[in-house]
Amino acid sequence: MKRILIILLPIVLIAGFVIYQIADAATQTKIGGLMDKKVLVAYFSWSGNTKSIAQKIQAQTGADIFEITPVTPYPADYNETAYGIAKEQKEKGIHPPIHNKDISSYDVIFVGTPAWWYTMAPPVMTFLAENNFEGKIIVPFVTHGGGGGYTIDKDMEKLAKGAKVLSPFVVYGKGNSGTDKDLAEWINKL
Ligand SMILES: Cc1cc2nc3c(=O)[nH]c(=O)nc-3n(C[C@H](O)[C@H](O)[C@H](O)COP(=O)(O)O)c2cc1C
Repeated sequence: MKRILIILLPIVLIAGFVIYQIADAATQTKIGGLMDKKVLVAYFSWSGNTKSIAQKIQAQTGADIFEITPVTPYPADYNETAYGIAKEQKEKGIHPPIHNKDISSYDVIFVGTPAWWYTMAPPVMTFLAENNFEGKIIVPFVTHGGGGGYTIDKDMEKLAKGAKVLSPFVVYGKGNSGTDKDLAEWINKL
């Protein structure tokens, strides 16, 4: 009996260690290509979904975080925001004034937006158009209500002159229980 225990104990310990390592690797964030880079997560969020994804990215990368806010806040009412203001801003190409941030020290900027009228929200347009993105990398992330990411990455490329825009992370609403893992995999591939 004692001999069986002596043989089995190391096997059980090694198996436990291997299982722990596999589980840990699944949740751990390796920021691979982002190492040594100065990283910012900048996002606009009206109802909280994009904010939630931004905070997850910030937690996984250790980046700085910045909420893009319009000088004139959107109303809390959906119809007023969507049909009263955002639709007109989109149709007329209006870039509403925002509380901006000096981004000159950052190499990589995650830029998060809800899908608004088939593209990014207007305050994000302002952020991209009014800052100097020459030589910087933009990593887009988009939350949507069923329409997907549209061509938001290409739209960002047009506004942020001189930036290299990578493939976006696109998610419905604020994501689900698998979103942390999906984000980790996406970030690792950057
Ligand atoms: C003004 C407005 C326009 C929207 N337009 C779209 C759209 O074109 N396609 C889509 O899939 N969802 C659309 N939505 C839904 C949002 O993209 C979705 O709810 C998003 O996750 C909200 O992010 P937030 O909570 O960070 O504001 C729109 C929402 C609003 C308020």
